[in-house]
Amino acid sequence: MRSNLPITNQGYTLKDWETIVSKTDLKGRITYVNDDFVRISGFSLDELIGKPHNIVRHPDMPPAAFEDMWRTLKSGKAWTGMVKNRCRNGDYYWVEANAAPLIEKNQVVGYTSIRGKPSSEQISAADEAYRAIMAGNKRLLIREGNAVVRSPQSVFSYSIESMKRGVRFSARQIEAVARPFRQCRRRRVIFIGCAAKLLPF
Ligand SMILES: Cc1cc2nc3c(=O)[nH]c(=O)nc-3n(C[C@H](O)[C@H](O)[C@H](O)COP(=O)(O)O)c2cc1C
Repeated sequence: MRSNLPITNQGYTLKDWETIVSKTDLKGRITYVNDDFVRISGFSLDELIGKPHNIVRHPDMPPAAFEDMWRTLKSGKAWTGMVKNRCRNGDYYWVEANAAPLIEKNQVVGYTSIRGKPSSEQISAADEAYRAIMAGNKRLLIREGNAVVRSPQSVFSYSIESMKRGVRFSARQIEAVARPFRQCRRRRVIFIGCAAKLLPF
């Protein structure tokens, strides 16, 4: 895991029209970046091309997020999730990243990510979930870009759709919802019914 330091508390908020694009080879080495990437990250084109994508990794990002990203991409699927990146000078910027395999002649030849401005609700939900994971909360997992509570039967997510609708769960709220489920399991009650009653969507 690469640790890029120093970091500052200064965040850059993407403009509505800014789109940060990059492409990588199969190993995650950068092969293309657009102008917004260069300008917002503060790295020069020369510093980026050919380098591993973790050059913009922010130390607040849980390794589990990237494990999930790579697992999803390697299974041939697209990954949408929240990423906090580090600028060259240590500042940060949040993006909603949409990463996908690049396919040519039926073969995966690399990957691409197109990132846009997330809502403030998306940022605070992701920030809270990632902090909890980094603090050692083993009950939170990241699955296909969503923070979910580890549970055999059910998944309560900070889903992108929920975030867009402004529905946001803190780790404490999730725990509060998960607890009755665990009790239900002990009593062998069907979970889906509980979920319908408890969840606000
Ligand atoms: C298309 C694509 C885009 C990526 N974009 C980012 C990114 O914006 N920020 C980031 O930290 N990692 C990004 N990654 C993941 C990195 O390759 C790497 O897994 C991550 O930075 C963690 O690196 P580390 O485990 O060496 O610390 C991207 C990977 C791919 C394939």
